[in-house]
Amino acid sequence: MTDKVITKKTLDLLRQLLLTWYQEQGRILPWRQTRDPYAIWISEIMLQQTQVKTVIPYYERWLEKFPTGDYLANSDLQIVLKVWEGLGYYARARNLHKTAQIIYHEYDGIFPQNLDQVVKLPGIGRTTAGGILSAAFNQPVSILDGNVKRVLSRLIALPIPPQKAIQSLWQLSNDLLDPHNPRDFNQGLMDLGATVCLKSKPKCLLCPWRIHCQAYHQGLQNNLPMRETSNPIPHKKIGVAVIYNEAGNILIDRRPEQGLLGGLWEFPGGKIEQDETVEDCIKREILEEIGIEIEVGDHLMSLDHAYTHFKVTLFVHICRYLSGEPTPIECEEIRWVTLDEIDSFPFPKANTKIIEKLKKEFNNP
Ligand code: ADE
Repeated sequence: MTDKVITKKTLDLLRQLLLTWYQEQGRILPWRQTRDPYAIWISEIMLQQTQVKTVIPYYERWLEKFPTGDYLANSDLQIVLKVWEGLGYYARARNLHKTAQIIYHEYDGIFPQNLDQVVKLPGIGRTTAGGILSAAFNQPVSILDGNVKRVLSRLIALPIPPQKAIQSLWQLSNDLLDPHNPRDFNQGLMDLGATVCLKSKPKCLLCPWRIHCQAYHQGLQNNLPMRETSNPIPHKKIGVAVIYNEAGNILIDRRPEQGLLGGLWEFPGGKIEQDETVEDCIKREILEEIGIEIEVGDHLMSLDHAYTHFKVTLFVHICRYLSGEPTPIECEEIRWVTLDEIDSFPFPKANTKIIEKLKKEFNNP
């Protein structure tokens, strides 16, 4: 498909135009100042679902805390999750830890350079592998992340949603890749998507590929790529309990290792069923999850949070422990903690807002 659309001569031109543009306009980013595959791998994982400006401080702090792959492999997962706290998609942190251990035990601590080996590592898909191998070793391995899909879809005015043309887009990314300078080519392609070929209001007049861009020529840059028809995002309502015992300690639980936010700590609670009050939901969930009776007291706060595939609203109540032995029935572990101790446990972002509120209300009499 791409052979028909773009000739070899045009491919050469496109490469040259992008490389020249990247030399002049490319962003100076911390992971571009190194060839260390460990540091580059960390950056690529952080950048999978998070924007550059958010990633930079996390990346720098991570390398201070875990300067090498061996060091990461031998660190405690709870500390790893704590350093990741706030970046979201915590499976990424668990996979970094797991992969560091695989590299430590199976590759003598040396990051593999073979694509087939790299894509087998937890958390590393084909595009992340291309990002790492091209940036660290200048290997000619192509990439196709969300931004690149958009750039290439516009370049050829792809008449179907990118998800339905994945093979062709990979082929195009391969065909375009500069075999002599894959590192800068891939970084340039990422920058083009992030700074010029924007999702809305693309800056076509600044684009080095404008004269070759089919979408631009057809005036379709604002309509492409074609969107997938998608279902509406579900919205869950969750009752959440901040349970105090007589000693003034608060009950927190650790979520199951598998699944969303696996291994992180939280205030217990669960989904409000149809026709159920928040209070009834909280009482029921706490009995089912932890096996204790509580009294549901004042409403502390409500807050919204958006995950990738659904939204939640948390309705948080202050509760009082009444009876029963706390038992981790639907969680990994339970602790009674003080508000000061709570900071050493990794929590999902929505829960950290509850902690802030508790500190404001109850720590300053
Ligand atoms: N997104 C994914 N990888 C990136 C990189 N190396 N630089 C900037 N943004 C990116």
